[in-house]
Amino acid sequence: MTIYISLVPLKMHMLILSIETSCDETSVALVRDGREVLSNIIASQIAKHSETGGVVPEVAAREHMKVIMPVLREAMKEAKVTWEDIDAIAVTKEPGLIGSLIVGRITAAVLAFAKDKPLLEVNHIHGHIYAPWLLAEGEPALALPLPEYPIIVLTVSGGHNELVLMEGPGQFKLLAETVDDAAGEAYDKVARLLGLGYPGGPAIEERAKMGNPKVFKFPIALPRGKNFSFSGLKTAVLYHLKENEDRLNDASFVNNTAAGFQEAIVDALVSKLMQAVRTQKVKEVHLTGGVSANRFLRRRIEEALGVLSDPPLFRVPKRMSYCTDNAAMIGAAAFYLR
Ligand code: KG4
Ligand code: ZN
Repeated sequence: MTIYISLVPLKMHMLILSIETSCDETSVALVRDGREVLSNIIASQIAKHSETGGVVPEVAAREHMKVIMPVLREAMKEAKVTWEDIDAIAVTKEPGLIGSLIVGRITAAVLAFAKDKPLLEVNHIHGHIYAPWLLAEGEPALALPLPEYPIIVLTVSGGHNELVLMEGPGQFKLLAETVDDAAGEAYDKVARLLGLGYPGGPAIEERAKMGNPKVFKFPIALPRGKNFSFSGLKTAVLYHLKENEDRLNDASFVNNTAAGFQEAIVDALVSKLMQAVRTQKVKEVHLTGGVSANRFLRRRIEEALGVLSDPPLFRVPKRMSYCTDNAAMIGAAAFYLR
């Protein structure tokens, strides 16, 4: 269990400038009171990394160096704020690619020093956890009542796969995690095998819509106990593709494989989530991280929760741009964990 102790004088109202550079998105945001997004500029390196079919850390760090200052300028301009308005600078501390993290961390530290503001360091996964707390740009705060504890949060991204129980402000209890690959990582690897490019998640979701999940059945990886595992599923897809090498140019074969794979991964996520929901009495269930952009996964969770006699409230990030890496979620986490 992690309990946060505040290092910054507690202020009711705070405008935070936040920076996220842990992987392949350079992002700067201005967030008021952990919820109101004044700007959330994201420079994605997807085009760069699709050339290599995945993120090359050295290339990612150099891209961050190139765009961090223009992104910062754009975020300040769009939010229409001055340095006097800003109460603190927040930045992703870890986990992530070290070269990428350093670009954001040093930029934030220099800004904090030069402008005499406190520096708040945020764990990247805590950032994802607070993404569903953000309002859509321009939305009144009344439109989104504050979440009520206890909350179960399923964070599914390219690097992380965690089920966390939030019992109160800043009180996180890890219920389950992956013993090998994260779900997003499995999407990316299978997409590469199918020749669908990077990032794999959105590509597989699109192809799966056109496929039949019953044609190819893949094993649902459910290790005993509460944890997740996706490497067996990935290997099963690899063998399936080896056996059918000559069919990779057949669109319906690719669509059916994508649908079968997605069915297996979503079944595993939903079944482990529901196992936790049944054993913990919670008020809300939140889904977050890059894979939370997946509409099929969202619908399957909604359906599973819908049959409960007293279903908890289900929340996902209000914007697709809050699902994948972005600085607004870092500004939200910094506010609630300060
Ligand atoms: O949160 P994120 O931007 O980065 C990490 O912290 O890892 O997540 C990126 C991951 C990638 O693996 C990407 O394929 C996956 O999220 N993703 C999706 C979808 N959109 C992004 N996976 C499934 N369906 C999607 N629509
Ligand atoms: Zn992330």
